[in-house]
This record gives sequence, structure tokens and C-alpha cells, in this order.
Amino acid sequence: MCGIIGYCGPRNATQILVEGLKRLEYRGYDSAGIAVGLNGSLKVIKTKGKIKELRQKIPGDMISSYGIGHTRWATHGVVNDINAHPHTDCSGNLAIVHNGIIENYESLKNMLESEGHIFHTDTDSEIIAHLIEKYFNDDLEKAVKEALPLLKGTYGIVCIHAKDPGRIVGARNGSPLVVGIGKDEMFLASDVTAIIAHTKKAVYLEDGEVVFIKPEDFITTDINDKKITKEIEQITWELQEIEKDGFPCFMEKEIMEQPESIKRAMSGRIDKELATAHLGGLNLSTKELINLERVKIIAAGTSFYAGMVGAYLLEAIPRIPAIPELASEVRYKNPIIEKNTLYFAVSQSGETIDTLFAMKELQRKGATVLGICNVVGSSIARDSDGGVYIHSGPEIAVASTKAFTSQITVFYLFSLLLARMRDLSFSAGEKLITDLISIPLKVENVLSRWQQLKEMAIKYAHYKDFLFLGRGVNYPVALEGALKLKEISYIHAEGYSSAEIKHGPIALINEETPSVFLVPDDELREKIISNIKEVKARKGKVIAISVEGDEEIKDIVDDVFEIPATHELFYPFIMVVPLQLFAYYCALELGRNVDQPRNLAKSVTVE
Ligand code: F6R
Repeated sequence: MCGIIGYCGPRNATQILVEGLKRLEYRGYDSAGIAVGLNGSLKVIKTKGKIKELRQKIPGDMISSYGIGHTRWATHGVVNDINAHPHTDCSGNLAIVHNGIIENYESLKNMLESEGHIFHTDTDSEIIAHLIEKYFNDDLEKAVKEALPLLKGTYGIVCIHAKDPGRIVGARNGSPLVVGIGKDEMFLASDVTAIIAHTKKAVYLEDGEVVFIKPEDFITTDINDKKITKEIEQITWELQEIEKDGFPCFMEKEIMEQPESIKRAMSGRIDKELATAHLGGLNLSTKELINLERVKIIAAGTSFYAGMVGAYLLEAIPRIPAIPELASEVRYKNPIIEKNTLYFAVSQSGETIDTLFAMKELQRKGATVLGICNVVGSSIARDSDGGVYIHSGPEIAVASTKAFTSQITVFYLFSLLLARMRDLSFSAGEKLITDLISIPLKVENVLSRWQQLKEMAIKYAHYKDFLFLGRGVNYPVALEGALKLKEISYIHAEGYSSAEIKHGPIALINEETPSVFLVPDDELREKIISNIKEVKARKGKVIAISVEGDEEIKDIVDDVFEIPATHELFYPFIMVVPLQLFAYYCALELGRNVDQPRNLAKSVTVE
């Protein structure tokens, strides 16, 4: 949620930190700050608001060779200048930045106050600075290692000390940290986007590891000071992928990228000769795959809706019972692990704490959990028992779009793979492959008609409540459409199975509550048309996303957006894209900050 960057080396740390923070702003952005070493002491500058406000507060001549920076998404303590990170100790010589939550901060604070420490903020993070101060004796690394065992909760911590200048210490427990290795310079960040302008060489810390960096090298240990040798990995993302590239915002760019990102998710994974899919990284034998009796999918938010689509596909294609479950619920419900059951943890960021901890709980009880992640080297990708990367490229806009279509691409491939090991014929496999390969072009077709969705959004953006209604494999798409609209435009929206409206939601229908119906040309079409008529009979406005050539629907509804026809199981791809664009243009029409909607942050690393 929050972002961290640290730098030591020959260049001006101030500038590198501020540029890094700008790139991290998408993770959390209610306040920001930096601390740099200057003439034997530390200079801390912080502010509520955006990085541009921080920039205005920094003197142009503040040149330093080391420092740390942070963008904050408030958890403990209101959003103001004081609660922004970095936090300092009583002497002002030590500065820390922290991602995560310290659960026992109140008892630690009482202890430290009784020892004379003076606190200035309402945050849980400030206690870390005072705790390290308690143990500091001219060796920052040693003090950090003495302080860490007292902390309960999650953290990615990065700190500097004026009396141990030019060095940075970082520690990880549940919040990611990555070391960036440059030439005679080092970086430490919560996310590779902060450092890829400078280096492609990275070392990912694991939980329980501490890193001590200076410009020419780094040392990793556990908290008991046992040395750990780490592998240097290559960052695969390119700088241009984290830039807007001529688009007004990241969300539009990421929606428009989908024909390419879907292709990337399937690239190299389709075997036309055997009419099946290859997914390296599953770490399961053919026998284990054949013996599977059940699949369970855990995730949050948009990834959960992708998981719902996935569960539908697994039941429809290989005919395996599949259940999607909210990761936040799984973690605390004492889950039952059944034999021959495979779990998927689906997460764009790979850092969502609910999904990560649910996965660990399942693994602790002996379950096999595979990850479906976008961010290479993320916690879920590393700690899962295997998995599949979706290769969407960086998703910077807070609202997830291209990850959804790539995640479902992986579920199509996995369903095909399992089905071909069971009772799906060669020709039925071939047909699925042909349909899947045709999707990017169909998505492109929808995207090319953005103008129509923009006009529709201008017409409807001023309504206060919406219903999104779909059935079968498109029911999760309706949920996703409602989520997109509410999170970026702040219009209240609910998603339902259209069959459910008469069990309650139809009471909401009047002239002021439009409904968006997803109307594929499948066996449920007639039933959906009946639901539309029920809404129209109550004077509700209706927008239909329907299939080209469906003339009947045009006479029944108020507005139609036509999509190309496809195999009935593939509509989620083509239905979701107009809903993404509709939400996007509604948000623009209402003047919202599309990439950084209020109260939200990318990658939810707190519970
Ligand atoms: C919605 C959105 C969130 C995320 C959710 C899970 O647009 O972005 O609902 O989908 O927080 O995030 P990941 O996929 O990173 O686990």
C-alpha cells in the first residue's frame, strides 16, 4: 500500500528518492516524505498530499549521498504532515520508514515512554525508531537486529543513522523489500517500479531477513546475524511499461493494452498439435493432475471475480468441482483440506495480505497452493508451491483491468489442460484453442468503439445508483463491472445474477436506477430478456451489452453496446472490456482522479 525507497551512492540521493516516490505514488498517496544525510546529521522533509507538494518543500541545493523516502496510505493516525514518514528517534539522528502494521505498538510505546522516549506522532511506525534508538551503540545494523524480535506484526522497514552515515539497513516480515544493485550504488525499495530506471539487477528479501547496504555491496543475514547468500535476479519489466506512453492516465493505457496482455498470457502455452496447453511451473505430475478431484480458488477483489470465472470454467470444461472463496474469509475459518484438492491463490500484486496469509494457513495444513500472479518475485509467487505468471506487465492504475483478462486467460488454459487429460476430445480441444486465440482481435474490436461508451457514460454518469446484472460465466463480470464503477467514479453500484433481482434488488428499480444487463447469445438469453422486461415494466432504464445481430434487444432497452459473437464460455473477455471503459468514462465525466481513487491503494498489504 505504502511505498519505500532508499538510496546510497555517488549520485544525489534527494533527486533519486523523489523520482522513486513519484513512481511509487500509485501504491499509497495521502502523504510522503524523505530523510537524507546532510553534514553529519539528518534532514527530514515530509508533507501530506502528493509528491509534487513534497517537491515544493525540498530546497534545490539539498544534495546528499544517502537517504530514504516513503509514500503513505494512512492506517494508524490521521493524514497530516507529522504522521507522514520518515519518523525519527529522540535524537533526530535515526530515521525509519515502515510498511505494514505493528500490532503491539501500544505496549512498546508505554515501555519506551516510561524509559523517557518522547513521541510526536499517532502512528504505530514511530515506535520502531525509538526501539532501535534504545539499542543503538554506533552500529545501526546491530541495533536493528536487537529491536526486531520485539516487534509483532508485519513490516518492511528501512532506516538510516547520521552516526553510521552512507549505509542503509532494511528488514522484512510480511511487507516486500527488494535490493537494487547498481554500479557503486545501491537501492532498497518496496517495489521494483521505484528502481528500474536505474538498475535491472535485484535481490528479493524473504521474511525474517535483514539487509545492510553500502554503495559498493550488501550483506543479507537473518535476525540472529547468520549470513544468507542471495541470488541476484534480473528484472524483466521495461521502464516504458511503467510510463503513460502518451495516454492521459494509466487506467486507459492498461485497458487499451489488453489485446497484447491477453496474447502474452497465452504465449508459448498453447500446443496446437496435441490440442492442449502447457503450463510450466505447476510442479504437479500428470498423475497428480489426472487424480485431482477438486479445485479451490482464493483471492480478493477483482482477482476474486477472475477466480469466480475460473471456477465456472473448471466445472464447465474439465468438469472438476471448483469453488472460489474470499481469501479474507478462508484465513480465519479453519479451512478443511480435502485430499486431491488443488488451491489457486490469485493475485495481481502477489502481495495482498489476505491472500498471502490465507495461502500460508492452507499450506500449514498440508494443502498445495499454486499462485496466479503478475508481479515476478512477489510474496505469493515465491511462497506458493508453484504457479503461473500472467505476464500482464506492470499494472499501475489502482483499479485492476488487464490483470483480470490475463488471469482468466490462465484459467482457460488450465481448464483446457485438465480437460484434455480427461474426456475432452481432440477436436473439442482444437475448437477451444481457436476460440481463445480469436479473443484479442475481438477485444480490439470493442476497444476501437470507445467513443460510443464514452457517449453512454456522459449520458449516465449523473445517476447515483446502478445495478449490473449477468448470469452464468458472466455473473462475476457483472460483479466486476459494479466494482469498477464504484471504485473509480464513486457511484453506488451493485452486481447481481439477473435471476436474483426478483429476490430483492428489484425493489430498487425506478427511473433513477439504471441497470446494465449482460446479454450473451447463450441458452440463458431468453431468461435474461424476461428479467430486462421486469425492469422496464418498473420504469428502470436499461443498458444492454449484447451480441452483434441481436435486433430484438434494441427495441426493449434504452441503450445497447454490441460485442462480437464468441463461444458462450468466452464472453467474460468481451463483456468486461465495455464495462471497464464505461466506468472509466463515467469517472472522467465526474472529474475523478481515475488512477488514484480516494481511500484506495494498489496492493492491500494490511488487513
Ligand atoms: C479492484 C482492485 C482490487 C484488487 C484486490 C486484489 O480494481 O484492484 O479489488 O483486485 O485488492 O489485489 P491483488 O490482485 O493484487 O491481490
